[in-house]
Parts: sequence; structure tokens; C-alpha cells
Amino acid sequence: MKKSILFILSALLVAGAHLESRADEGMWLPSTISKTRIKQMQQRGLKLKAEDLYNENGTSLKDAIVLFGTGCTGELISGEGLLLTNHHCGYSAIQSHSTVEHDYLTNGFWAMNRSEELPTGLTVSFLVRMEDVTEQVLAGVTDQMSKEERSELINKNSEAVKAKAAEGNSYKIDIKPLFYGNQYFMYVFEVFEDVRMVGAPPSSIGKFGGDTDNWVWPRHTGDFSLFRVYADKNNRPAKYSPDNVPYRPKKFFTLATQGAQEGDFTFVYGFPGSTQEYLLSDGIDYIANYSDPAKIALRTMRLDVMNKYQSSDPAIRIKYASKNANVSNAWKKWQGEMKGIKRLGTVDKKRKLEEQYMAWAQDKPAYKDIIPQMRDLYDQMDKYALMFDYYNEAFRAMEFVAFAERLSRLKTKDEKVSSAKGHFKNYVAQIDKEISLLMFAKYIENMPMEYRTCADEKCTKCGNVPVEKVIENIFANSALVDQAKFETLMQQENAEEALNNDIAMKFFVKYRDAFAKHVFPEYRRLSIEITDNYRIYMRGLMEFQTDRSFYPDANLTLRIAYGRVEGYQPSDGMTYKSHTTIDGIMQKDNPDIYDYDIPQRLRDVYAAKDYGRWAVNGTVPVAFVASNHTTGGNSGSPILNARGELLGANFDRTWEGTMSDLEYDPVVCRNISVDIRYVLFVIDKIGGASYLFDEMQFSKRKR
Ligand code: ARG
Ligand code: GLU
Repeated sequence: MKKSILFILSALLVAGAHLESRADEGMWLPSTISKTRIKQMQQRGLKLKAEDLYNENGTSLKDAIVLFGTGCTGELISGEGLLLTNHHCGYSAIQSHSTVEHDYLTNGFWAMNRSEELPTGLTVSFLVRMEDVTEQVLAGVTDQMSKEERSELINKNSEAVKAKAAEGNSYKIDIKPLFYGNQYFMYVFEVFEDVRMVGAPPSSIGKFGGDTDNWVWPRHTGDFSLFRVYADKNNRPAKYSPDNVPYRPKKFFTLATQGAQEGDFTFVYGFPGSTQEYLLSDGIDYIANYSDPAKIALRTMRLDVMNKYQSSDPAIRIKYASKNANVSNAWKKWQGEMKGIKRLGTVDKKRKLEEQYMAWAQDKPAYKDIIPQMRDLYDQMDKYALMFDYYNEAFRAMEFVAFAERLSRLKTKDEKVSSAKGHFKNYVAQIDKEISLLMFAKYIENMPMEYRTCADEKCTKCGNVPVEKVIENIFANSALVDQAKFETLMQQENAEEALNNDIAMKFFVKYRDAFAKHVFPEYRRLSIEITDNYRIYMRGLMEFQTDRSFYPDANLTLRIAYGRVEGYQPSDGMTYKSHTTIDGIMQKDNPDIYDYDIPQRLRDVYAAKDYGRWAVNGTVPVAFVASNHTTGGNSGSPILNARGELLGANFDRTWEGTMSDLEYDPVVCRNISVDIRYVLFVIDKIGGASYLFDEMQFSKRKR
């Protein structure tokens, strides 16, 4: 008896602890944080008020944060437009300025004064304000409307709201649905277009550990780079001009050079890209058991080819560096995700939840049939979704196809010529050919027989596409796989026509159109149907789970996640600490392993223990983990302490926690950040660019 009470008690305690730390889950809207989360944040240690985080009528932390490019976050760290983001976010800018002679990827880049800062073509977007516009967007919408009528009216309403908000300004305005269209928010951005590269460590620091350590803790990557935002003389956005001057932001971050310790409160403020926390079991099952495995297998093939060529030739290594990193990143994440979903038993858990929902909905006509209906839709959808995956991951993985697609979208000849320059700069036809042979075969294999396009001109013979012959032919005759040929072609008088008659272009058009005709319409119809059903399911879920606090799925809009600095136990018998140090870099250092071959300069600094002001207990902190709920797009996001000082830049999640896009597990989900002290150490001791410190503000606090 006693024993069982004890057991129940301790079970309750465990459950309580679990519930308590579950509070770390979530990506919250900054403009409503005063209503949703500020109390919990303060209870956990936040020393700021809601208005310090978001205030559209004054200055707040949000004014120091930008959407960097189209998929990362950056933050201002000086009053003169200096910006911190990840190395991998600045990667293509760094790479585009790199040649074998000026190899900034390998050697790093440090502007020694403002005139040496390099233009990039990148943009950064500041959020001016965000606003709940649900009422305006849904004005006149009724449950009786057809889906088409509904979406037409929503579009019309949205356009009107945007037009009104755009009056008398040059802001960029977005409206995004939240909770599958149960709510709509408007986002007003000021976009700056003159962004220059200021500094980047050598890849052996910025990408230390490479794809071996990617997604893994313990980590020792100096994943940061520095840029500067420029504006016109009136501090307004302007196209690149030598006359532009450094932008003076409303707000920039003080750097938390005192660091943080295990248990300290932190929050991450940035632009998470996409999560699907409310997916039905069918959706999870599709991702973890069908889509992820298929995509992983395709990417493995591509990576094998790239790696083979890259390891044999330094010029190719540079050319394919960015492509390889992109392909391998999601490839590895999906593997962690699959494992995590299995370990958590997410499919079964969701199924149980769905049973409860259905029982609850028995007497609620609006929700009663929604889950069975959605299950039926998923059954129909699975095969189209898989074909869609193959279209993206096999068909479009052929570089000449992606190039043809880009060309077909560009209007003028000049645009095509200039796009080709960029394309060929990083192109090796032999790699594309080997990959294309593999990808096209897989693509064809996975389109059902009736959708395979015809092998002969008259379209009489379907099915048996002679993959090898088709690809060989393209690589022997197309101008899209050969720069000299392409340039000659574009010089012809009838260049446009010649381009349309190019064998690779015709191949692309043929298979694109076949897909557009035989697969896409059904795929589209079902996705619209499913999304619309999610809107209803979601509304029901919120009525059903009244004591749960819901946050909208990430959609590349500004969010706040909070947690604390904490290590974790990845598996039985193992404990990970929260911080890594420079000693760990030296333990991994190995000149024979590309991913772990650090610059000699770092070895020298280490040998001399020449850490200067960056020494902490005889070492230098490098990276740390915390329990903030983040996802792709949060890269480069500021990770902040209780007072809103900058502890570092988020750059990854842990392998055991990559399923957090589908289910967050407070026990193992951790975000990984580079410690600001390591950033400063590298700028100082490796880059010799400590002149930049003059414009920064270091915290005077001890803790
Ligand atoms: N995993 C991180 C992210 O999702 C870092 C990616 C870049 N690093 C790499 N080794 N590929 O973006
Ligand atoms: N590296 C990711 C990014 O580019 C962040 C890691 C994640 O997915 O959490 O946004």
C-alpha cells in the first residue's frame, strides 16, 4: 500500500517536472507576449518587461533583429550597422567572393576598414510592426462558402488590407495565416539592400566539424560571420552605392561577455521557418516512414558523387562547397528526425489523441467527421506526395534541370546571360552528368507507369524511358551543360528560339509539363483540401484542449522561444554538459581530417595560451546548448540572457532533438549557439580585427 502511494507520488512528481519543463516548448508571437508568456518568462528569470521585447511605438529588442536574406536571422551589434549572423548564413556571400587566389572560404575574410567591406547583394528586413488582421481578412467569410469562394474573398480582403498599410511608405507587407487560417497576421518590413561583408573566419573555424559534427553535440563550431547594413544619408534603405553610409539602428545588442551558466534563463528571438506541431498521425507517419527515407536515399547518392569529386580537386571543392553543405544539411536532419519520431512513438501518441478527439466530437457536428475525413484524404494523398518529393529531390536535383527552370522563368536575354554566369561559375558538367544518370533513373522509376512520359517523339511508346541514352545525349549536345556553347548560343540572333530548342530545355519542359498534367493537379487539390480541413480540426483541438496553450506553427515570422542553459542525457549512461571550450577543439584537431583541420594560427594561440581578455578559467568557451524551441531559420538568431544581452548566435539543434519540428521533447531538444566570447576571441586573435570592438558595447555585469 505504502509502496504504491509512494510510487504514485513519485510518478506525479515526474509528471509535474515534465509538465513544468514542457513550458519550454513554443515559439511565441512577440506582439502578444504580454498576454501569453511574459509571466512564465519572468518566473523563470527574465528581468525585462513585455514592452522591452516588443514595442511598436517605441524602441525594443525587436528593432535589433533582422530576417537575414530569405532564411536566416541576424542581429545588430553596434550603432553603426554591424550585424552578426552565422557563417553558414553568410556562406554563399563568402563563397561568391572566393576564388582559388582569394580563397575567403578557406582563409577567412576580414575587412580592415570600411572601404574594404564587400558588397553582397543580400538583403536584411527589419520588422516595423505586426498586427492581428483576422477580422479584416475574414470579413464576410461564412462556413457556407465553398473553398474557392472562401479563398477568393480572403485574397481580396488581404490585398485591401495590404494596400491600406502600404499607403505613403515603401515598406514590404506580408499577411500570413496562423493556425491553418484560423488567424491572420500582417507583418510590415523595412528592407535594406546594401549589405556588405565585414568578416568571416576561415571555414576550418566557421564550419569546424563540417558535416561530421553538423546537428551534433558536443560542438566546437565558430559558426558566425559579420556584415554591415548600409543606408542612404537619411538613414533610409537604398540600393548599393559607394555614397551609402552605415545604418544607424534604433537598437543594438549589448554583448554578454560575462557569459551564462548551466540553469540560466535564456531566450531566442528570431525567424523560425517551419514547424508542424499539430499534424495528424497520418501526416507524421508519411514524413517519418515514407518521405524522409526516400529523400535521404536520393541525397545519399548525390552526396557520394559530389564528395568523390570534391576530395580530388581543390577547385571543385570550392565550387561545390555551398551546394554540398545544402544537400547534406537536410539529409542529416531527416535522419535524426526519423529516429526521434520512432523513439517518441509520435504516431501512436497522435493516434491516441485523435481517438480522444473523436470521442469528444461525437456530439459536435462541426468536428465529428473531420478526422475520418482527413484520414481518407491522406490515403489519397500519400502517393501524390511521394511523387512530389521525387519531383523536387530527383528531377530538380539534376543541375541542368534546375538551370533550365531558372532560365525559363527569366524574361529578358540579359537576365538569362547574367544568371548563366553565376550558374557556370560553380558548375562541373561531369558531376551533374553522374548525378543526373542516377536521379533520372530514380525519378522515372517512381512515377507510375501511366505518368511516365513517352520515349519517342510521337508519344506512342510509354514507360520504357532509355534513361542512359537520354542523359548521354543531353550532355553531348546541350548548350545548358557547357559554358562556351551556351555563350555562343546566346549570341545568335535567334537566341531565344535556339534556347527553346535546346535538347536539355526540351527535356525539362517535357517532364515538367507531364508532371503538371498528370500529378500536380491532384496533389494540389488534395493539399488544399487537407489544409482546409486542418483549419477546422485545429479550431476543434483548441476547443477540446482548453487548458493547453497553443502557439502557431513557425512560418518565418518573428518569434520568441525561451528556456535555460542546460545539458542533457542523450541516452542511458551518458550526460552532456552545457558548454564546450577551446580544449575540445584541440582534442578534435587533426590535419589529416578535412573537417577537423584547424588553422595553424589557432594552434599557436592555444600553445601560447594567448587568450587575452577572453580567457575564462584558463580556457575559452566556444559553444553551448539551451532548451529553447528553435528550427531552421533561427540560424543566426540572438540568444539572450535575462536582461536581453547577447550571449551568442544560435546555429543548430542537437541530433536527438531534430524531430522538434513535429514533436518537441524537453528531455533532449536543445538549441546550439556559438558563445559570443568565442566570436570575439576569433575576431581578435585569428582575424586581427579587434578595431571592430570600438563600436561594440560589452556588458559591465559580472553575471
Ligand atoms: N545544421 C545547421 C542548419 O540547419 C547548420 C548547417 C550548416 N552547416 C553544415 N555543416 N552544413 O542550418
Ligand atoms: N542551422 C539551422 C538554420 O539554418 C538552425 C538549426 C535548426 O534547424 O534548428 O536555421
